This record gives sequence, structure tokens and C-alpha cells, in this order.
Amino acid sequence: MKISVIGCGYLGAVHAASMAELGHEVIGIDVDPARIESLQQGIAPFHEPGFDALLKKNASHLTFTTDMSAAADASVHFVAVGTPQAADGSADMTYVNSAIESLTPYLTKGDLVVGKSTVPVGTAERLAAHVTPTGAHLMWNPEFLREGFAVEDTLSPDRLVYGVPEGTDGDTATAVLDEVYAEILAKDTPRLVMNFATAELVKVAANSFLATKISFINAMAEIADVTGANVTQLADAIGYDTRIGRRFLNAGIGFGGGCLPKDIRGFVARAEELGVGQALSFLKDVDDINMRRRTRVVDVLTEELGSLDGKTIAVWGISFKPDSDDIRDSPALDIAESLARSGATVVSADPEGWKPAQARVERAGLSASLTTTSDHRAAVTGADAVVVATEWKVFQNEAPGAIGDLMTQRIVVDGRNCLNVTAWKEAGFRYRGMGRA
Ligand code: UDX
Repeated sequence: MKISVIGCGYLGAVHAASMAELGHEVIGIDVDPARIESLQQGIAPFHEPGFDALLKKNASHLTFTTDMSAAADASVHFVAVGTPQAADGSADMTYVNSAIESLTPYLTKGDLVVGKSTVPVGTAERLAAHVTPTGAHLMWNPEFLREGFAVEDTLSPDRLVYGVPEGTDGDTATAVLDEVYAEILAKDTPRLVMNFATAELVKVAANSFLATKISFINAMAEIADVTGANVTQLADAIGYDTRIGRRFLNAGIGFGGGCLPKDIRGFVARAEELGVGQALSFLKDVDDINMRRRTRVVDVLTEELGSLDGKTIAVWGISFKPDSDDIRDSPALDIAESLARSGATVVSADPEGWKPAQARVERAGLSASLTTTSDHRAAVTGADAVVVATEWKVFQNEAPGAIGDLMTQRIVVDGRNCLNVTAWKEAGFRYRGMGRA
């Protein structure tokens, strides 16, 4: 099938390459010429395992352009543009609205427009009024991919969610999308068909649940810190209850990235608009608990070092999670900036995140006190303390003795509870975890 993908950011670029992998002829469209140039050359504009290989492998039937008229050749159009957080916490719909507006003139009768972006409930209904007069059908098909596993999650998802309009229009749209995803469906992937509002809500509900799970365990970490309990053992113990489950119960400096933080805030804003803000007031606590984790690291370091002024601190980790160079709302980078603002000299190390972080640090006017590097050993050299803020394997595998030899003082703050506590203590470190001593 001929497919267009509007928006070639994280979601769209991976989706375009994955659709090509399924054998379709795909055109990726984006307004950013630099991004398109890079994708067209087969170079991934971000770090995502397996994505480069997919681009190269499918180059014969995967092209990228800034020209929306190229969508006219396709009969299925995925809309995968970003919905960033607006100043008031709601989702900024500028890109979705303009994508639909510029796509509409190229739609023909029988085409299928498939929304993948995470949107406030009610959006699909509103956009249908623009799409259906062209004779095209609209569906909402939320994406649940995790960064670092984006290709795997797109080609082997846990489930497919189809949001369809009521009536026969929905049946036609479903049949077309089934054809697009035939290979995925052949693997017995559950497929759930529902109305627009439910499909839109599934996405934000899933992310809200995950965020709540993380903040729940971080709330337990706060209690553990004042009682001498160990939050990791607590998570292991409650996690054995299959109703609870152990995944997403890792306490630490909390969640970040381009989805969880903005999605819960956007959901709260939308519920308030709908007059049911009270239903989601707990998500404000989830957000507050999460943001407190970042302050906690600064507090622990202040307890250990006294004033941070004039101290040198290494932060291992910049990206919001390992195997990613994404620094959006990254707890690790936020903490490094707070430490720099508190008068410390900070060296942040990350195998991938150090590159995009440089520009942000400059914009924040912190270049004099916060530098970034890919070399985590260089970062700890001469440091009074090291903070592990992103659990890259390369940090976890380090020999604590050798690291201690490079440092001025042996203090480690394990912001992800990912280190071997005994090994670091035996190497003479003062070890401070998050909810575990
Ligand atoms: C998330 C959802 O998982 C995905 O389904 C959705 O499509 C997009 O948002 P992603 O943003 O890639 O994916 O990251 P995720 O793996 O969910 O992690 C989010 C954050 O939570 C990271 O900062 C991670 O470090 C943190 N986290 C995760 C914890 O602090 N503790 C945990 O137990 C798990």
C-alpha cells in the first residue's frame, strides 16, 4: 500500500520506517528540512537502537520530503506530529491542526487518515469535521512505543487500538487499517475497536497509570528514607503479587521524557476543561511527588557535602532514560542544572545525551559551571561526589574502587537505585540511595 506519514519526529520517523519494513511504499513528510535531509540520507536524527538499520534496509521504498503534495500519491495517511506541553499545561494542538489543514487538499474519496499523536479527548471528533467532507475516513490509532524499544514496540505491539467513528464508516476504516497492519495482526496481536473518545483516553490513561505507579513507589521511598526501610526490597515483595506486578516500581529520581510528564499535565488540563477536574486531582500529586525526587538529590548532596558552593560534582546520565539521547524533561539534566545553580561545578556525562545537552546548557546560561562529556571517567576525576542519574549499563558495570581513585572524596548518590551497594560500600564509598540506605 502507499502510505504517507506526516510528522517525522520520534514517533513518525520510526512509524514510517516500520511501515516500510511491513512492505508498504512510504513517504515521510515533515516541515523541518534538516530532519528530512538526514532521514533521506539514511541517518537517524536521534539515537534509537535498530532504527538506522531499518532506514537503510528499506531505503528503496521509503522516502522523505518537506513537500505535503507528495501525500497525494498515498491512500493511507498517518498523522504523527508532536503535541508538546503548552504554557498552561494543556497539549499544544498547533502541529496537529496544521498537519490536518495542509493534508486535507490532497485527500481523495476513500483515503484513510490515521491519527497517532497523543491528543486531548474530543480531538478526533473535531478533526473528523474537516476530513470527512473530502470523502476520506478518519481513525485514531494511539501509539504506545517506548524510547529505546521503539522499533520492537511498533512492529510487535502489546495491542492495537482502533478509534473509529460510529456506523459503516468505521467498518471501512477498520478494514483498511487491518490491511496496513496485516503482518502484525497475523501474530495474534490483540486488536480493540472502540469509539474515538475511548481510543484517545486509552493512551493518556495508560501513561497516567504508569506515572502513578512510579510516583507511588517514590512516595514509599520518601517513607523509607525516614524509617530505615529499603524501597527496593519493598517493591520486590509487593511486586510478587501479580495484581500489582514488579514492573515500573523502580524508585529513584522519577520519570521524565517527552510523554509521561506532559501527558499527565495535559490530561489534568483537559479534565478541568470538561468540568471533571476533581477526577484527576490525584495526578497533581503524582506530578508533585515526581518533581520532589529531583530536589531530593540536591538535598542529599547538601547533607553530605555541606554547602555545594565550590564543590565539584559528577553527574552520570543526561538523557531521561538509558539507550536514548532524549533530554526532554530529563530528571538527570534538571538535577545537574540545579546543582550548578547552587554554586557547584558540575560535569555531566552520558554516552548519547551529552550532545543535545550542550545547546540547552548554553541557552540556560550555565556553560561556565556545567559541562557535558561522553567520558564518565573524566567526569568523576577530581569530583567530591558522583550522582548516578540515568541507569546506563556502562555506569552500573564500573569498578567502584577505580572510580574512587579518581575522585577527591568517595561519595555516591545512586539516583536510580541501580548500583551494587555492597561493592560501592566495600570500596570505601558513602552510599546514598533513593529510599534505601
Ligand atoms: C512512555 C510509555 O512507557 C510508552 O508506552 C508511551 O508510548 C510513551 O511514554 P517512554 O517515555 O519511552 O515511554 O519512557 P518509559 O520507559 O515509560 O520511562 C519513562 C520515565 O520513567 C523514564 O524517565 C524512566 O527512567 C522512569 N521510570 C520508569 C522510573 O523512574 N521508574 C520505573 O520503574 C520505570
